[in-house]
Amino acid sequence: MSETPRRRSVPDPRPARRTVLKLAAGAGLMLPRVGMVAAQGDDPRKARPQPNDRLVFAGGDRKGQVITLEDLPAGGPLLTAFPMDPAARVVRDDSRLNQILIVHLDPNRLNSDTRARAAGGIVAYSAVCTHTGCDIWDWQPASSTIKCPCHFSEFDLTESARVLNGPAPRRLPALPLKVVDGAPAVAGGFIGRPGFETGG
Ligand code: FES
Repeated sequence: MSETPRRRSVPDPRPARRTVLKLAAGAGLMLPRVGMVAAQGDDPRKARPQPNDRLVFAGGDRKGQVITLEDLPAGGPLLTAFPMDPAARVVRDDSRLNQILIVHLDPNRLNSDTRARAAGGIVAYSAVCTHTGCDIWDWQPASSTIKCPCHFSEFDLTESARVLNGPAPRRLPALPLKVVDGAPAVAGGFIGRPGFETGG
């Protein structure tokens, strides 16, 4: 008489929903401010932009290459960058909050605060929307504004990225720039806290 084969219990390789949520929180998407600060630690890849950092392409064919003035003609395009320690050549790309928008605007259209932080019309801001953290943008060159396609918040890059429309609760943090050896470089830390959490 043949035996009925016994079923073996095979562990489900998919993480439980709760585990997925914990992983998302660990990736920084849901962390409160204190958690994000602690996560930066001493890791240079997680550290926020530092003075004299260069900016490198965040993606595309030239990912990791230094952005020079030639890459930034007046009027756009709008580029997404990560900061890079120029001595150690460490790209600080291990935190999505280090994504930076950079674009060359007409300096005559910048308000005084924005002009003071710009490098000859080149301005930089956090690339993470202050609403719920999207980081893809529609560049609107005629108005020097950007629109977040997630919930349509709009920011004016000539006026310290103030919110023009939409649910974003605050402007995008600005990043002061200067020019070093023919390339934009960081002149100081973010003005304000990058990210979208509202606490703190
Ligand atoms: S995430 Fe940008 S408007 Fe909602």
